[in-house]
Amino acid sequence: MTTYRIAPSILSADFARLGEEVRNVVAAGADIIHFDVMDNHYVPNLTVGPLVCEAIRPHVQVPIDVHLMVKPVDRIIPDFAKAGANIITFHPEASEHLDRTLQLIRDNGCKAGLVFNPATPMHYLDHVMDKIDIILIMSVNPGFGGQSFIPEALNKIAIARRKIDESGRDIMLEVDGGIKIENIAAAAQAGADTFVAGSAIFGKPDYKAVIDAMRDQLAAVK
Ligand code: DX5
Ligand code: ZN
Repeated sequence: MTTYRIAPSILSADFARLGEEVRNVVAAGADIIHFDVMDNHYVPNLTVGPLVCEAIRPHVQVPIDVHLMVKPVDRIIPDFAKAGANIITFHPEASEHLDRTLQLIRDNGCKAGLVFNPATPMHYLDHVMDKIDIILIMSVNPGFGGQSFIPEALNKIAIARRKIDESGRDIMLEVDGGIKIENIAAAAQAGADTFVAGSAIFGKPDYKAVIDAMRDQLAAVK
């Protein structure tokens, strides 16, 4: 049986009440907090950094999954590890030395992963599978919440699933962008086990109702 994990993205939360928001979403059943870091350079938007990660850390016990949409990446990694991150992922285009960056994340005590934009080829995985704990497939172009799921992402999830199974390693397969109750089962069917959802959860008044409905969809996946 696959263990499915729901990872609400704080990008769509109320930033004026962030501590309360993450507590509420974990109480509603979230398994992971997805923390989107944007730098107005690698992506055309600007969000939050290690200070805010540190501020929410005492509010929840679940892992904090830091998705770095920044360039360069290496300098900021130890800061996020100190701020309480458990998982750190980055985009291969944003690092000059992928192997070194993956090792740096692990050396700082976090799980490490690569993020693939809709048009980013998957070959970046070929020589680093032994340094990867998580693969994140973007199903939108990064930078904003509330965009529509790009169906081609399902093919990429399936490719990533094959690579993980062939490696025999315990690697999480996460999908991020436009995930909602209506399409979460298709992403699971393609091979994803971890589902980021921002607007679909924080955009609704009843977080538990959405997460429960997502779990019902996942329970029906064969
Ligand atoms: C996009 C971010 C996503 C985003 C998801 O760049 O990486 O995590 O917050 O938001 P929704 O679920 O609204 O597409
Ligand atoms: Zn994200």
